[in-house]
Amino acid sequence: MIDAALAEGMKSVRSLLVLTGAGMSAESGVPTFRGPGGLWEGHRPEDLATPEAFDADAGRVWRWYRWRLDRVKAAQPHAGHRALAWLEARGGLEAFHVVTQNVDGLHQRAGCRNVIELHGSIVRARCSLSCGNIRPADEVDPADIACACGGRWRPDVVWFGEMLPYAAFTEAGRLTETVDMAWVIGTSNVVYPAAALPRVAARRGITVVEVNPDPTPLTGEVPYSYRMTASEGLDRLARAWAGARGSRFEESGTS
Ligand code: OAD
Repeated sequence: MIDAALAEGMKSVRSLLVLTGAGMSAESGVPTFRGPGGLWEGHRPEDLATPEAFDADAGRVWRWYRWRLDRVKAAQPHAGHRALAWLEARGGLEAFHVVTQNVDGLHQRAGCRNVIELHGSIVRARCSLSCGNIRPADEVDPADIACACGGRWRPDVVWFGEMLPYAAFTEAGRLTETVDMAWVIGTSNVVYPAAALPRVAARRGITVVEVNPDPTPLTGEVPYSYRMTASEGLDRLARAWAGARGSRFEESGTS
């Protein structure tokens, strides 16, 4: 159940920030990174998700990302994604944003418009040089990745050792410093700089709510942490939200 004090606090919220990680997509069938069955089980991140790995064997990196892209294309947003789309469209907020570490585009497919992608998108490829070319990742032939400018096509994602996209991280930081409430859904909270955002929000004294089946390093730093999956937790939070604000939560989202 959602705590009565949290529901009471929802009444006056004007801006809500939702930070999501791989656990948000788990119930859609997209694997998480850490833990049993995670993408890093049996793989070393430095062999697949670094600029050095791409330089050493671009074909191997591309095959892994294309395999992940196929999983993402087969996945469908779940009730938790739709609850967030409902909040954005009907939650009565002045500002609603999702800041996600996920690269799968499921928030957008569920109908969320204000989505900030901190780690890029697996759906896109970009030139490894600065020509600025972008194309759908599934159009790239892993055996022929030459861009017309002389660069090489690479997944448009952030790899370990790389900077986050400047505009996305700046906007995420601004929101963290200004919103009235933040929800943190399905992230292990161990990869920086994204993991700094909920901590900064908590230290501002705003209400930070975590939803995760397992405790994380953030758990002890926030007032509310629910041991629930993303779909269950967001359904309950959205229902509490609607109850607190005198509206009706329709799980079907914006449609
Ligand atoms: P992780 O795989 O590190 O963590 C996933 C979290 O989701 C864990 O805390 C799980 O307990 C939780 N979880 C699992 N199932 C869930 C469910 N059904 N509902 C809610 N939560 C669930 O994923 P991230 O924290 O997103 O970066 O990882 C952060 C970054 O590390 C990723 O963006 C990626 C990765 O390496 C790069 O590739 C640069």
